[in-house]
Amino acid sequence: MTQVAGIDEIRSHFPALERLHNGCPVAYFDGPGGTQMPRAVAAAMTDYLLHHNANSHWDFPSSRETDAALGAARAALADYLGGSADEIVFGANMTTLTFHLGRALGRGWRAGDVVVVTELDHHANSDTWRALARERDLEIRAIRMRREDGRLDEADAAAKLTPGVRLLALGAASNALGTINDVAQLTARAHAIGARVFIDGVHYASHQMPDVRAWDCDFFACSAYKFYGPHVGVLWGRRELLATLDPPKLSPASDAPPELLETGTLNHEGIVGAAAAIDFLGALGGERLPRRERLARVSQALHERGDALLRQLWNGLEQTAGVKVYGPPPGTPRTATLSFSVAGHTSAAVAAFLAARGVFVSHGDFYATTAVRLLGHEHDGLVRAGCAAYTTAEEIGRLLEGVRELLRA
Ligand SMILES: Cc1ncc(COP(=O)(O)O)c(C=O)c1O
Repeated sequence: MTQVAGIDEIRSHFPALERLHNGCPVAYFDGPGGTQMPRAVAAAMTDYLLHHNANSHWDFPSSRETDAALGAARAALADYLGGSADEIVFGANMTTLTFHLGRALGRGWRAGDVVVVTELDHHANSDTWRALARERDLEIRAIRMRREDGRLDEADAAAKLTPGVRLLALGAASNALGTINDVAQLTARAHAIGARVFIDGVHYASHQMPDVRAWDCDFFACSAYKFYGPHVGVLWGRRELLATLDPPKLSPASDAPPELLETGTLNHEGIVGAAAAIDFLGALGGERLPRRERLARVSQALHERGDALLRQLWNGLEQTAGVKVYGPPPGTPRTATLSFSVAGHTSAAVAAFLAARGVFVSHGDFYATTAVRLLGHEHDGLVRAGCAAYTTAEEIGRLLEGVRELLRA
């Protein structure tokens, strides 16, 4: 395994892990909904608010410090995503940024133009484009998800990506099933027919380091609260494309990217926290290498650990009579997020039973509503367990034991 900080050291950074519920230590499996925050991230936000708080672009120290902090944050996020600092746009969250980008892109599109989405995705990356389609009379096509393994149907993707498609809006990874899609291959296919490519990287970025240049995509959005930061959205866009966009904006606001796409006053403390989250991750990889190399090393090591945890969880659940697991099996491209159902119990009932034992899992459809409906769980939902950097094998054991106890009850 790649050498990075051990699990005990990682856990020591997260005060939330000291919490007890009903006398049990809390095991947080809700990372795909939002990870816990290390002390250093909260401290950076507090420091900004208490000592540097100002609006930007003025000629006094705290304002200049704010400008510097925003610039440093763009550089940190650019290192994580693989782009340049002047290609990083901040906003409220991925959904808001996607609606906003959609409005800007749509101004150049005509009735009948096509946007391709997928059945696998979070609805932040399908309903956003469907809303645009209603406004501008566009056609929406959805690439099918294979029910047997939660992967996109490649033949269907080829059939749907035909000339006339303006945009492929693709999730890099599924927040419901953990599937990692072949972003580079689908991007190349979309570019070959002249379409642009928007990547929803929210789930992916919490498990692996993105590489927007290697993927050759055009836009990529993610949210810092999924990778140990606060509630801030991040959009990367290819510089030359950002410069051509015509988003809704106020006339005094900057016409230059990346500010061009940023509406109103930003969440400065959140942006500082997002950068601190990147630095937290980078620091787990030691000090000597450049930041992106450290981040790559950490990302690889955490992915390997996540794989082992996922395998333990998948195998344990699969061997439990009455439990059904969904999505791609271990050993295939996937994150350490797994959804399952328990015969005779709704997902809400399973989550409540586990929560009483200090095991916090999410339940429902996670806004990946189409995928969960196609899997037959529109009404009772699925239970989702996501492994994060602080998840241990012992916590997985507690989750498995809790499910077995429920089935015995
Ligand atoms: C895959 C995926 N895409 C998009 C979103 C929406 O992100 P945000 O809450 O930042 O709008 C989420 C949130 O859970 C997600 O998991």
